[in-house]
Amino acid sequence: MSMNILVLGSGGREHTFAYKIKQSALCTALFVAPGNAGTATIATNVAIGVTDFPAIKAFVLKEAISMVIVGPEDPLVQGISDFFASDQTLQHVAVIGPSQEGARLEGSKEYAKEFLIRHDIPTAAYQSFTAATVAEGKQFLETLSPPYVLKADGLAGGKGVLILQDIAEAKTELENMLTNKKFGAASEKVVIEEFLDGIELSVFVLTDGKNYVTLPTAKDYKRIGEGDTGLNTGGMGAISPVPFADDAFMTKIEEQVIKPTVAGLAKEQIDYKGFIFIGLIKVGNDPKVIEYNVRMGDPETEAVLPRVQNDLVELFQHVADQTLDQVDLAIDPRSAVTVMTVAGGYPEAYEKGKTITGIDSVSDALVFQAGTALQGDAIVTNGGRVLAVTSLDADFRKALQNSYQNIEKIHFDGMYYRKDLGFDL
Ligand code: AMP
Ligand code: GLY
Repeated sequence: MSMNILVLGSGGREHTFAYKIKQSALCTALFVAPGNAGTATIATNVAIGVTDFPAIKAFVLKEAISMVIVGPEDPLVQGISDFFASDQTLQHVAVIGPSQEGARLEGSKEYAKEFLIRHDIPTAAYQSFTAATVAEGKQFLETLSPPYVLKADGLAGGKGVLILQDIAEAKTELENMLTNKKFGAASEKVVIEEFLDGIELSVFVLTDGKNYVTLPTAKDYKRIGEGDTGLNTGGMGAISPVPFADDAFMTKIEEQVIKPTVAGLAKEQIDYKGFIFIGLIKVGNDPKVIEYNVRMGDPETEAVLPRVQNDLVELFQHVADQTLDQVDLAIDPRSAVTVMTVAGGYPEAYEKGKTITGIDSVSDALVFQAGTALQGDAIVTNGGRVLAVTSLDADFRKALQNSYQNIEKIHFDGMYYRKDLGFDL
């Protein structure tokens, strides 16, 4: 049955969702709230914020929306799924995104650690502390060897994790987080955890609460500078699949991490229909979980979804109906490489409103827009991460070259991107 669909969010991730949904015969009308200049080319943008639940409700009823895909974590952590489930006029709408309880896996690092331990899922050893236990926290730091990993418990826009070499600095930062609320309410609690030495990758799971499918792996590049140096960003690019995640390693991830995660959610009767993004570090030959996110990654989505050949709306319908066991995923065997272009200055202060040219000249590559807006007929920058260019090729290095060649056709003042993606693979 064909339906009207609403995607919540405004980044490259949401442009990618819209691009895939638009290909489905099951989609009649597609809306994105609030969207960007890219989603405007394939869907209708709606000027509603992702956490404005009353406005979302009114819009869903007015446009007879049957499915809502929640892109970012904020509305999930604020309980958008429960808001729909508990409203008689909205109950019939399929919401792709977990309940508020499920979203705590991302909303609270301590909650996630306790879940991991309860279900015997491999993760770094840890303890958590509050302002009342700063002294104990400092003592705990003394028992560890550097580097020291401090994590604000709550959502801190990807900035809440500090990795420090020096014990004195670690103690000072612990105090800054707990006593001086460096990250506001998010750092009222701090998780201190064992440093894991290894290479990172992410796996993406789509679950209906009982069954699941494992989407392709990806690796993102979080630092602004080449060689993984400088400040953390939302993500400067992604590569899928991760070459070192061979079958034997994926089997370990499936048995030790994915199955107990989905079974744990079911056992605890946590309503979960949506994505689980599992951040892992490969330590020796073993996976260890460093974080859960309750949504897809950005820019990982821009690399992962173009490889998924299934009808995305049909997949989501199976999630809503709890029939994901009937699905076989078809994955494009080629590698996908996404390169993110950002505004000069990002992730610190940067300017907006720069005219973007050349998107139409891109060939044999996909452009997913992130921080963009329409100003009259012009597309202008409207955020730090501006647009992502994704290429596919059997050889990820060739895909990378193709993305770089196409980026050279695109221009905006101050444009920056990393030229060394994949350097570590
Ligand atoms: P998170 O927000 O938990 O993903 O942490 C942000 C980044 O910090 C991760 O992508 C890792 O690079 C790093 N990180 C987090 N936890 C650890 C850990 N226990 N050991 C080493 N690196 C970590
Ligand atoms: N790229 C990391 C994230 O979406 O959290």
